[in-house]
Amino acid sequence: MNILLFGKNGQVGWELQRSLAPLGEVTALDVDSSTHCGDFTQPEGIADTVRALRPDVIVNAAAHTAVDKAESEPELARLINATTPGVLAEEAARLGALLVHYSTDYVFDGSGIRPWLETDAPAPLSVYGRTKWEGEQLIAQHCQRHLIFRTSWVYAARGGNFAKTMLRLAQERERLSVIDDQWGAPTGAELLADVTAHAIRQTLRQTLHQTHDENPPFGLYHLAAAGETTWHGYARFVLDTARLLKPDLALQAKEVAAVPTSAFPTPAKRPLNSRLNTSHLRQTFGLSLPDWQHGVQRMLAEIL
Ligand SMILES: NC(=O)c1ccc[n+]([C@@H]2O[C@H](COP(=O)([O-])OP(=O)(O)OC[C@H]3O[C@@H](n4cnc5c(N)ncnc54)[C@H](OP(=O)(O)O)[C@@H]3O)[C@@H](O)[C@H]2O)c1
Repeated sequence: MNILLFGKNGQVGWELQRSLAPLGEVTALDVDSSTHCGDFTQPEGIADTVRALRPDVIVNAAAHTAVDKAESEPELARLINATTPGVLAEEAARLGALLVHYSTDYVFDGSGIRPWLETDAPAPLSVYGRTKWEGEQLIAQHCQRHLIFRTSWVYAARGGNFAKTMLRLAQERERLSVIDDQWGAPTGAELLADVTAHAIRQTLRQTLHQTHDENPPFGLYHLAAAGETTWHGYARFVLDTARLLKPDLALQAKEVAAVPTSAFPTPAKRPLNSRLNTSHLRQTFGLSLPDWQHGVQRMLAEIL
């Protein structure tokens, strides 16, 4: 099986290089790749890449993820998050390939406290959320054989992340202020990549052995770690765990103050309720999703 991966050096893309490897031959590209175009500002180049490589599966982990910056460059965000994924979907459909794509809790307006279902109506608050939703719609419109995973609060051991920022600040300051009115589940790139590999395998199997009773599980799924917290709860868990894992770490912070979102004004508005209901994914693929603390603890053990 030939797999084409875009966005190979992002948080999720990096882990996908590992998790997809046992499924087949992976061609992994990023924005700078010289062998084939992997630059999502070049939709024709991306179409040429798909036509040249003729993959069985395309996994798109490339995205414009700079949520605040997207407010001032909406056309670029639309090109990368919507227009080019739409072209990818057209090319995938032409080949009969399976297209896997990621989206975000930011498609929702964050109202209420109930975890969002796939059937709930998106109402994005930001350019990022709006362009990601447009991308979802173009993919669903052009390529029936798709899996879209909406996730939240992604972190990875590689590169910068919220936990590393909290650990640095806690070494520099006696008091931290962290938002406590946005709710969600920190989700590891490792978990996303592993679930993606399982889902691809099961989808292709069901496609091969398709019966009238059982259709392949194409479609949209919410995928996030289990449980819920706020950024404040997340920060406290990071610092408490770090103290246990590495008692000699010089953490100065004695207080982690809980503050509302309004304490940190940003160009892009974030949803307060980012909880995602993952029942559809768990039932369809027979998978269980670990609590968010599980992955965060592993990531801390790796970076400390
Ligand atoms: N991060 C989150 O909290 C979060 C939450 C919910 C959903 N998601 C979704 O999850 C998916 C993976 O996100 P992630 O966390 O892995 O993001 P990430 O670490 O920012 O990775 C995105 C990748 O896309 C690349 N990219 C940027 N512009 C590109 C272009 N013009 N052409 C090709 N590649 C380009 C980036 O390259 P450079 O680094 O070189 O720019 C980076 O490698 C995305 O679809 C994202 O929307 C993320």
